[in-house]
Amino acid sequence: DKGNHRHFMLKEIYEQPIVVAQTLRSYLQRMDERVTLPIPEGDLSAVKRVTIVACGTSFYAGMVARYWFEQFARVPVDLDVASEFRYRAPVMEPGGLALFISQSGETADTLAALRHARAEGQTIAVVCNVPTSSMAREADLLLSTHAGPEIGVASTKAFTCQLAVLAAFAANLARAKGRLSREDERAIVEHLAEAPASLNAALALDEAIEQVATQVAPARDVLYLGRGTDYPLALEGALKLKEISYIHAEGYAAGEMKHGPIALIDDAVPVIVIAPSGPLFEKTVSNMQEVRARGGRVILISDEDGIAEAGAGCAATIALPRVHPLIAPIVYAVPIQLLAYHVAVQKGTDVDQPRNLAKSVTVE
Ligand code: M6R
Repeated sequence: DKGNHRHFMLKEIYEQPIVVAQTLRSYLQRMDERVTLPIPEGDLSAVKRVTIVACGTSFYAGMVARYWFEQFARVPVDLDVASEFRYRAPVMEPGGLALFISQSGETADTLAALRHARAEGQTIAVVCNVPTSSMAREADLLLSTHAGPEIGVASTKAFTCQLAVLAAFAANLARAKGRLSREDERAIVEHLAEAPASLNAALALDEAIEQVATQVAPARDVLYLGRGTDYPLALEGALKLKEISYIHAEGYAAGEMKHGPIALIDDAVPVIVIAPSGPLFEKTVSNMQEVRARGGRVILISDEDGIAEAGAGCAATIALPRVHPLIAPIVYAVPIQLLAYHVAVQKGTDVDQPRNLAKSVTVE
């Protein structure tokens, strides 16, 4: 049931404040300001390395999580798409944790990778939205997302719930490794708990984003740029556009632009820059200026401070509320989802059932 919404995708985008809050409830103890897991955590202190494997949007959630595992827990992370993982003879030493992320829990490549990691003696953790799925059943550590059924082929609410779980998991691992002070743990709880309200504030920009979509809909190619955890978000933004609006879109690490793709810049290629205020802002903005200096048409997604500082001269801006960098990937998912959605609607494509795609890819 789509409720009052025209498409399942839009309904699912709008559900995010609620389902992220629902998911966080299993991982945050607000009263004593603790991050915990809803399952026995085994002995995470023995984990020496984390191998993250997934496909599509779930892979981009894993890419964001890599920053968190490394930053909080100081554990080395290996990351790959499931369809490549097994074919490069990955080295998995004893004591390793292999983490699989999947909305459906049935994606054939991810499931095959999970079985490969199991055969290599890894502890298997699964972040999954369907508790009865194959991956959930084969997990040693099942970390559920509580997004509810996701019907739209384009993944939206599953992604933000995955990020919420992965942030909590990274904090748990950090604590098990003796690397999380009480103060840091309290701060993480506080920031994550702010995510639902910030998601609501991002949703309130829907009409403004619909306007911006009119500038993107006529394009044949689009570039998405981001740095740090905004780099996987750029990849996710480009994937959403490709999937449902059939516009050729590429996500790039902002700093890689000048190593090639900058040659593509002209005023027919909108360049969408994801740059929340924070430690990486200045660097990303200077990459954005390189694009502008070559006649590029920039759409800047930032917060009010960021837009005030760097928005002049952009073709369009989207100003989100200012959020802590930890939850920025969760909150910035909303504008990229809505942008793809409105572009698709303006182009008249089948938003919920895009051509050539299946909700769950059960062949390798
Ligand atoms: O069910 P999964 O999370 O394992 O699915 C992985 C991908 O097939 C999926 O994320 C796909 O890329 C989506 N259509 C993206 O919107």
